[in-house]
Amino acid sequence: MLRKLSVGAIFALAPPLVLFASIHPLLADESAVAKGERTYENYCATCHGEQLISNSAGLTFDPRRLRADEHARFVNSVQNGKNKMPPWKGMLDDIQIEQLWAYIQASISSLTHPTGATPTR
Ligand code: HEC
Repeated sequence: MLRKLSVGAIFALAPPLVLFASIHPLLADESAVAKGERTYENYCATCHGEQLISNSAGLTFDPRRLRADEHARFVNSVQNGKNKMPPWKGMLDDIQIEQLWAYIQASISSLTHPTGATPTR
């Protein structure tokens, strides 16, 4: 019974935590970052490069160029697409998009980014 309750509590808390993490990128929790990385590798890496490292000589946008205050732009572009980027609405839900944001923000901070590569602006 107690176990059931605490699992329910985690689900109830998850969306606000994800939102909170998007406002405070450095507080992004590890599992959201890890899930975002997996989603990125599945859906985004073909165009944006493995582990966010561009493989296309700058032909595609480096998502790390988005600043922390451009969250709304990120969500809009990912949901609706932009020019040659396909829209992801219907493929990815809000939580997955927040996890992608957490992954990208964590990579900007270089804390979890293996190369420590700094994006060019
Ligand atoms: C088919 C190739 C392709 C895939 C797959 C792709 N993108 Fe893109 N993406 C692009 C291109 C091309 C642009 C540049 C659009 C432009 O500005 O003309 C872009 C731009 C962006 C931008 C910047 C948008 C802006 O506001 O300027 C973001 C953020 C982004 N992509 C995130 C993602 C994420 C997250 C995924 C995975 C869910 C993804 N992309 C998958 C091709 C792709």
